[in-house]
Amino acid sequence: MVHPEGTKSPPGLVEHRPGAPARIVVLVSGSGTNLQALIDAENAEKAQHTDEAQHAGKAQQAAKAEPAGSPAFGATIVAVGADRTGIQGLDRAEQAGIPTFALRVKDFATREDWDRALRDKVAEYEPDLVVSAGFMKLLGPDFLAAFDGRVINTHPALSPSFPGMHGPADALAYGVKVTGCTVFFVAGGVDDGPVVAQAAVPVEDGDDEASLHERIKTAERALLVDVVGRLARHGWTIDNRKVTFQ
Ligand code: GRF
Repeated sequence: MVHPEGTKSPPGLVEHRPGAPARIVVLVSGSGTNLQALIDAENAEKAQHTDEAQHAGKAQQAAKAEPAGSPAFGATIVAVGADRTGIQGLDRAEQAGIPTFALRVKDFATREDWDRALRDKVAEYEPDLVVSAGFMKLLGPDFLAAFDGRVINTHPALSPSFPGMHGPADALAYGVKVTGCTVFFVAGGVDDGPVVAQAAVPVEDGDDEASLHERIKTAERALLVDVVGRLARHGWTIDNRKVTFQ
């Protein structure tokens, strides 16, 4: 990518230092509980600042001084996008007063047209980071070229194990005793990009796919909030596959 100073990174190296707060676009396809965890993190920090300001008797001045979003979380969700309408994820965003959009593949002549339209729509919000949180479509080459090293995804398994749509079911079928979740930078393959963070989750006797996925999702939401906050506050470097916070 191009540095703010205009110099080019060497091949295989991506560096990004977001603004404060970092601007986040979240992509969803379903229930949006990961999105809700991010909304809650942003709102909790806003509430904390309001409380502190009121405590000090300086509510007016603080409201003017603080940018939207939370310096402690470090990120503000500027838009939520989906590949379908009528989903809880979009409802959650609307209830939180966040702008939304939906682009359905079937409304475009080709998958590539959809990918470019999604790229252009997301670009309107000038994100530092795009968070694919339960977005059930593979992002295409045009989208990823525009946001190189700035798109993360969350997967309900410990990569590189069990990629694809059925991570919890595949882990159960294999009989592993520990699985988990992975937050990674999207690189164009299936759940195989550079890993940012992982959390382990035990498989319990008697688990079925739903109970295991629910336990994983509890860990996944906490991991995602932690990762997004750290990326937002510190910036990041991707050196080939190695991700570090700056
Ligand atoms: C998450 O487990 C995600 O990893 C998977 O789908 C689930 C989305 O859950 N791809 P939600 O929509 O955030 O509740």
